[in-house]
Amino acid sequence: MGILTDTFTLSNSTEIPKVGFGTWQVPDGKATYDAVRTALDVGYRHIDTAHGYGNEASVGRAVRDSGIAREDLFITSKLPADAKTHDLAATRRDESLTNLDLGWIDLYLVHAPWPWDRIATRHDQGNLDAWRALEEGYGDGTLKAIGISNFDVHDMENLLAHGDVAPVVNQIQYYVGFTEPVITSFAQEHGMLVEAYSPLATGDMLGNADVAAVAEAHGVSAAQVALRFCLQNGILPLPKAVGPEHIRDNAELDFELTADEMTTLNALADTAPSHYHNPTQG
Ligand SMILES: NC(=O)c1ccc[n+]([C@@H]2O[C@H](COP(=O)([O-])OP(=O)(O)OC[C@H]3O[C@@H](n4cnc5c(N)ncnc54)[C@H](OP(=O)(O)O)[C@@H]3O)[C@@H](O)[C@H]2O)c1
Repeated sequence: MGILTDTFTLSNSTEIPKVGFGTWQVPDGKATYDAVRTALDVGYRHIDTAHGYGNEASVGRAVRDSGIAREDLFITSKLPADAKTHDLAATRRDESLTNLDLGWIDLYLVHAPWPWDRIATRHDQGNLDAWRALEEGYGDGTLKAIGISNFDVHDMENLLAHGDVAPVVNQIQYYVGFTEPVITSFAQEHGMLVEAYSPLATGDMLGNADVAAVAEAHGVSAAQVALRFCLQNGILPLPKAVGPEHIRDNAELDFELTADEMTTLNALADTAPSHYHNPTQG
């Protein structure tokens, strides 16, 4: 098996391919369709989208047209961050299922613990109410696994203490020099797989000289080093690309960073300090 079909096992025993293909900021329609078709042709089997990206329908169409067996694919989507009542969350969950039109969603995440226009505010009851709508989808089999994104320790504790089903994933911002160690450790200690969103800092870490030096030593790209860094830390990376060369580059991860290189990379300061970070992360 190659890296695109190797899997991590989630705490509910679901297998999840170790590299996911990101689709944030890829416009709905041809751009998303072409990017996802290219990714599937290259061999990616795990696609990450969200209701909020507005491109679920194009992801679904590309997946259906690929002819790849549904069981061989892993599709993640996300509940809009502002859906903090049970009824709105149930409506948005069902919209995601309809938009994708793939029978089921392999992993559905609460996109954030706060609406995007109120980052860092607390919504304990709202998150529990929204979570109930995900638990219902999990119970009826339309959502094969459920999890969270952008949750800090407080928000994870709230769900773990009061929810019926424990989240199996926390998807957070994670790249060389910005690994959110408190959140990462807490999530892992409580059985969650941590997924790295923006593993290339949306492209902003690719010019870092220390990463470039490691890349040169292996004859690979900075992006490939950044993705191996995640994998060798036990984190699932979600690189986004629309350029076919980028899509291919990010799939060629058949090399190993040495223990010394990992120590160096893990000790680096933020490799994209001017990149946007949620104020609750760190
Ligand atoms: N849960 C959340 O709140 C959240 C937030 C942000 C992101 N995400 C998820 O994480 C995914 C990835 O994060 P991201 O979209 O911020 O981007 P990213 O993967 O960190 O970086 C993507 C950028 O890097 C470029 N790139 C990709 N591969 C490259 C390569 N091999 N060499 C040189 N440049 C390369 C891309 O260019 P081209 O596109 O031009 O090829 C694009 O400009 C998202 O798409 C989304 O699925 C989730």
